[in-house]
Amino acid sequence: MQSKNHFTSRFSFLMVTAGAAVGLGNIWAFPFIAGQNGGGGFVLIYTLALLMVAIPAMIAELVIGRLGQASPSVSLNKVKADNGGKGPWSLMGWVGMGANILVLSFYAVIAGQAAYYAYFAVTHGFETMPSVAIRAIDNGFKTSFHQPVFWTALFIGMTMLIVSLRVTSGLEKTGRYLMPALFILLVVLVAYAAYYGDFDRAYDFLLGFDRFQLSSGVVIAAIGQAFFTLSVGLCGLMMYGAYMGEDIKLPGAVASIATMDFLVAVLAGFAIFPLVFAENMNPGAGPGLVFMTLPVLFAKLPFGDWGAFVFFVLLTMAAITSSIAMMAPMVGRFEDSGISRVRASIILGAVTFILSFMTTLSFGPLYDFYPLDMFSVTEEMNMFALIREGVNHVILPLGGLAFLLIAGWGIRRHNLLAALNVSDGAFFNQIRFLIRYIAPLALIVMIFMGWFYG
Ligand code: PHE
Repeated sequence: MQSKNHFTSRFSFLMVTAGAAVGLGNIWAFPFIAGQNGGGGFVLIYTLALLMVAIPAMIAELVIGRLGQASPSVSLNKVKADNGGKGPWSLMGWVGMGANILVLSFYAVIAGQAAYYAYFAVTHGFETMPSVAIRAIDNGFKTSFHQPVFWTALFIGMTMLIVSLRVTSGLEKTGRYLMPALFILLVVLVAYAAYYGDFDRAYDFLLGFDRFQLSSGVVIAAIGQAFFTLSVGLCGLMMYGAYMGEDIKLPGAVASIATMDFLVAVLAGFAIFPLVFAENMNPGAGPGLVFMTLPVLFAKLPFGDWGAFVFFVLLTMAAITSSIAMMAPMVGRFEDSGISRVRASIILGAVTFILSFMTTLSFGPLYDFYPLDMFSVTEEMNMFALIREGVNHVILPLGGLAFLLIAGWGIRRHNLLAALNVSDGAFFNQIRFLIRYIAPLALIVMIFMGWFYG
């Protein structure tokens, strides 16, 4: 009985946390960012950034939550007091919680588009459409303005509902089936993409180095994506750390989650790029890439519209399990101040909805509006690009660095040992060394290369 419970709790933790990690970042962002940054070189630096920086930072963030047992800023304060720390630790909590809402404001727009594609698959169907027409749906949807607004509102509404009801058991059940289902469907899509598309060119593009060109832009995009995909840097994972079972060994659990996350992204890449090349599309087409390619594949398949429906429903659900991780920390903080969960969710949902106009407008009438055009770093970036890149390239790496420094230097050795739940010995010392020295230094070097080697 005991061991059965033990297994279930570890499994649930893995699936729920994987649910927070796996989302649009893997299936929507990874392919389009890899496409914009030349493929193989980006994938290599992204993998290095995951191993050396983002995974250690993920461990660090979960450690703080596990020791703090509360909402982010409360956890940070408690861990600081328990370890005799100095400095404004809880500031990170506030920055992270605020940035989460900004992320959600664009995330919801993309998730809304995924939900719309599921709806479109059953109401119109992609099957009889030529690829050019399918590609035009992306643009038509975005520029219609009222459609993204409606679907974004729906998505935010669903997130609010789930967060306010605190359906954690529902989340566990969802995670348990969602991840395997998504995985299987992606494997099937890769097989079909290999059959119908140009797999060789996709392979060369994603894993080849002939285009390898180290630039500051590639490095910073890779770090940002490594953090984003694991949901590290915004304090959301602290909540998951606070709820994880006592028996879980943290490093192994993080390794499993990061592996799942990585595989989903790579599978998405291999589902999308064979079509990009077969259809003579530009790999750097940007945020519409997944929406312009996968429906073309579904259109060729038997029962393709049902396939498209299932896929876009799963993608929307994967997005919801991530958006919960964005809204829950702030709702938890409101609750600590005596505001009810329902009220907190409504307030935050409304704020997110208002902020989401910056993205919906950037896809439509304000596509060419560049608010910070006067600075060379932010030249020709519309509001959506500013939010997405501002969070990914600045806030996430700095948040990750703060967590690494806190876990490596601020938390006492025996507390870190207890939080990791591994035995004292060489393995623990290596992880501590990674968190204390290698990860922060690698991150600082990467940030330096990215920000200052323009
Ligand atoms: N990791 C999520 C994804 O890949 C996005 C996310 C970022 C979730 C930050 C929470 C916090 O889609």
